[in-house]
Amino acid sequence: MQASNIDIDKNRCNGCGICVKVCPAQAFSIAAEQAELSGSCSFACDHCAAACPKEAITVQFNEAKEPFDFASFTGKVAENQTEVKLTALVAMMRARRSCRAYQKRSVDCGILEDLVKIGLTAPSGTNSQKWTFTIIDSRPKMLAFGESVAAYFGKMNRWAESAWLRKLLKLSGRPELEIYYREYYESIKVGLSQWYEKKEDRLFHGAQAAILIGAQPGGSCPQEDALLAAQNILLGAQVMGLGSCLIGFAVEALRRDRKIKESLKIPAAEKIYAVIALGYPAITFPRPAGRRKVPIRWVD
Ligand SMILES: Cc1cc2nc3c(=O)[nH]c(=O)nc-3n(C[C@H](O)[C@H](O)[C@H](O)COP(=O)(O)O)c2cc1C
Repeated sequence: MQASNIDIDKNRCNGCGICVKVCPAQAFSIAAEQAELSGSCSFACDHCAAACPKEAITVQFNEAKEPFDFASFTGKVAENQTEVKLTALVAMMRARRSCRAYQKRSVDCGILEDLVKIGLTAPSGTNSQKWTFTIIDSRPKMLAFGESVAAYFGKMNRWAESAWLRKLLKLSGRPELEIYYREYYESIKVGLSQWYEKKEDRLFHGAQAAILIGAQPGGSCPQEDALLAAQNILLGAQVMGLGSCLIGFAVEALRRDRKIKESLKIPAAEKIYAVIALGYPAITFPRPAGRRKVPIRWVD
């Protein structure tokens, strides 16, 4: 989506810069104590509008926005206890946000272990429970992990820069490098220069810890099992007052570069399906983010 779909009310904006911190697409910057749109794209994640303390930002969705008026419960506190619990559950789910700004405060090992236990409450195909959990429990270890992910993407970008290599692979039926070049090259180039030159962490956003969820061989639905456990952990973290963010870039690097797995002592046969960055959030969201309205298909 175009960043031009974002409106900033200059009369309300106080230039606090929270939009700059929460935006994953780097659409905003601050000039003359006002937020302005300096990037060209937006994920339409609505984080800027949800986080802005002055309610100065509106994201125009290309599609209609889901109104969240529920058919089976009011969404308000009701006499019926079940309804109250459901309301609380849905409110908690809607309040979870991908966190991209963390405090410099470590997360206790006990809390990280509890999160793994919360992950274990998820269903798994044929109840195989073949999932694996690898915990990274400190900022220096996160940085070391980040270094290896950055090295992987540095190599990818160097390959993608070669027009003849992209063409050769495309002609031999492997268009992946061409697609990578088109979709990711530029933003990864910016992210890498921020990582190496400015020491800014656009990968883990300054998270203090991470849980990597994988699977041993032999499960019937390893990816689904891992991702269901991941969602439980995201929600558990939310209730514990932690911020979390799935980091797909780290999953991709782990998948493609076996040396990264080796450096984390993850057996070669194990596949990693989710990397959850964790830490105490530096920014809170006073409002939930919007969701696009989806058509529901009813079977006759
Ligand atoms: C599979 C997956 C991979 C993701 N990878 C990243 C990532 O590498 N970096 C990041 O900042 N956010 C990542 N996200 C977070 C999404 O951008 C985020 O979920 C989306 O914008 C919606 O915002 P919300 O999580 O606050 O509802 C990922 C999310 C998913 C589901």
